[in-house]
Amino acid sequence: MKKQRILTGITTTGTPHLGNYAGAIRPAIKAISDDSESFYFLADYHGIIKCHEPERIHQSTLEIAATWLACGLAPDKAHFYRQSDVPEIMELMWVMNCVCTKGLMNRSHAYKAAVADNEEKGQSDLDHGITMGLFSYPVLMSADILMFNAHKVPVGKDQIQHIEMARDIAQKFNHTFGEIFTLPEAVINEETELLQGLDGRKMSKSYNNTIPLFETEKRLRKLIMKIKTNSQEPGEPKSTDDSTLYQIYKAFATTDEVAEIEKRYAEGIAWGEMKQVLFEKINEEIAPMRERYNELIAEPQKIEEILLAGAERLRPMSQALLADVRNAVGIRKLG
Ligand code: TRP
Repeated sequence: MKKQRILTGITTTGTPHLGNYAGAIRPAIKAISDDSESFYFLADYHGIIKCHEPERIHQSTLEIAATWLACGLAPDKAHFYRQSDVPEIMELMWVMNCVCTKGLMNRSHAYKAAVADNEEKGQSDLDHGITMGLFSYPVLMSADILMFNAHKVPVGKDQIQHIEMARDIAQKFNHTFGEIFTLPEAVINEETELLQGLDGRKMSKSYNNTIPLFETEKRLRKLIMKIKTNSQEPGEPKSTDDSTLYQIYKAFATTDEVAEIEKRYAEGIAWGEMKQVLFEKINEEIAPMRERYNELIAEPQKIEEILLAGAERLRPMSQALLADVRNAVGIRKLG
């Protein structure tokens, strides 16, 4: 049987935070095994859809690559590459643009949200400021996935629709031109997906409530001390239900440790103390990686080499697939 292929992309616009780590990076690295084939890539062409700050894109690419490597991704055990280093993805995207109907893209949540935003602002042109990049974003994502015939695509809930669109597009291609593409499936990790941020809402760059993964120890402690709690006094029994501290703790502790903390909540642990416990728990896991991260970040040319080697290893695959696709659609040698 062919090995299952797991593929996911990370948009290069931000600095990795604890939520990204617990929800995506850690499970992805854990999932790397000899029984499957993993493809993890930096989606830099997705990055430029919404971010027109070249320095941000560049810096984020470096930070995200260094993060994955520091967190234990072994480049010989998984395909680790930059989207822009595999130009066949861009060519495949064009072919998919010619298969994908505009109506399918009209239904994209990201596009509809942008239209709704214009409506709310009273814009007479509902497409005001919406680029073709944003509109056809799911086509690029489909090309990423279909290029390597991925079976499973681990993503956040907000991306499920995009994976379904990739399936639709693949099906349409297969139906029209012959069976080339595998139909991908989304995989959602419910448990760790929604790590809460400093204010108790989902940890997200757009809420400005994140705890960056590789802050210095001092900054990490400071940020944890800022996490919102209620105003209960030390000694008062506390509920774990709506406690952000508890929720984050759970993502880092063993089942036994969680049971112990639940007991301490019932006994009325002081918030200050709980923050200290949480800081230590997180730092214990992060500290060795932070050290590796700082070493890696100091040598960007090494990261560059790793990424280039990753793409080079893959390109025979993407070139072969693109050759099949071109042949299937009639773009062939004349003689
Ligand atoms: N759009 C995804 C996100 O914002 C990132 C991404 C780009 C991706 N290409 C992908 C994820 C392909 C999975 C598969 O999270």
